[in-house]
Amino acid sequence: MKKVMLVFGTRPEAIKICPLVNELKKRSGIQVVICVTAQHRQMLDQVLETFSVVPDYDFNIMRNQQTLFDITQAILSDIKVVLEKEKPDVVLVHGDTSTAFVAALACFYLQIPVGHIEAGLRTYDILSPYPEEFNRQAVGIISQFNFAPTQTAADYLIKEGKKPATVYIVGNTVIDAMQHTVKKDYAHPELDWVGDDKLIFITAHRRENLGQPMRHMFKAIRRVLDEHPECKAVYPIHMNPAVRYAADEELGKCKQIHIIEPIGVFDCHNFEARSFLCLTDSGGIQEECPSYGVPVLVMRDTTERPEGVDAGTLRLVGTEEEIIYRNFKELLEQPEEYAKMSHACNPYGDGHACERIADILEGKEYSPWVAKE
Ligand code: UD1
Ligand code: UDP
Repeated sequence: MKKVMLVFGTRPEAIKICPLVNELKKRSGIQVVICVTAQHRQMLDQVLETFSVVPDYDFNIMRNQQTLFDITQAILSDIKVVLEKEKPDVVLVHGDTSTAFVAALACFYLQIPVGHIEAGLRTYDILSPYPEEFNRQAVGIISQFNFAPTQTAADYLIKEGKKPATVYIVGNTVIDAMQHTVKKDYAHPELDWVGDDKLIFITAHRRENLGQPMRHMFKAIRRVLDEHPECKAVYPIHMNPAVRYAADEELGKCKQIHIIEPIGVFDCHNFEARSFLCLTDSGGIQEECPSYGVPVLVMRDTTERPEGVDAGTLRLVGTEEEIIYRNFKELLEQPEEYAKMSHACNPYGDGHACERIADILEGKEYSPWVAKE
């Protein structure tokens, strides 16, 4: 029996790891141990409840406006005891959060093998996204199993010197999570409010965007909404108080935007699927919207998801007010530009990533995911 411990702590990690937890639990050769850092509290619990996943260990580390030092110190001291007690055969971490980095570092100190889910995403700009580009490269140095979502990610890892036999192209587990979420008869009071108007879906949270860049984003969105009464925006806001303060100041008085509490992931996918357009700095949303054919203006200077840009569904617009304003306006006023972006494509997986990862961990044959041309 192989003991597999999964360590995660934030909303996006939970969304992408919970389907894997449920797949691993079906496998007779695997014993699953779930350890959450709770780097996020409420936003993590919302996902755990959705997928009925109950952690074996919960470090409950979240603090209001926590710093990178707070997160790192808290996890590093709590995880040592658990790793020494459980002695897992392998620890799985996901992506590029501080939870993933610190858990992998602890495993390295104790010489426990690490499997990295969503391995190989890169911008090669250490400050963008910050600190995520560092975190994922650091996990990449440590990990023995590298579960790349795409061919591009696998190519980066191999160029960086990873042994090809340790790099597996499995697709992104978020596509697995999306298989059963969007329903034709889905209803929500916010969608009733939008009615036949155009739904603009907004999220924002990146650390490097806090402060002026985020205010620029909000000002641009406000200007376009003022000029386009046929649009209604829904913004499920991140729980970071710094984001909430800026959003309230810049957008609070705008009647065309509803700023609401974080919604469940099933709701989120249904909102995305019904949107005319999405403006975001989120990573996960860049992977989800292409499947629905919903154009995304990515309010960041870099993206580690070039597949969606190449497919034409994502457009990188940075964080300058004037540029976001012009791009948003263009997609509302020039149908031919909108049409170029609004076609469904799926460069991120086929919904079987979790099965592949479980097969690999059990030592079974696996067939890599290959994107359709
Ligand atoms: C973290 C990750 C980021 C990921 C994002 C997903 C790091 C360094 N950052 O950033 O990679 O994209 O999660 O959302 O790992 N808060 C709550 N309740 C919650 C969650 C957050 O109140 O459920 C508030 C707290 O005040 C917390 C703050 O938000 O201190 C920031 O949370 P933190 O995890 O430090 O940063 P994120 O921006 O969420
Ligand atoms: N999401 C959600 N509720 C919300 C906003 C987002 O469930 O109110 C989901 C979204 O579908 C995606 C993930 O959260 O799967 C993205 O998380 P986030 O933007 O916090 O982090 P990132 O992907 O940027 O790391």
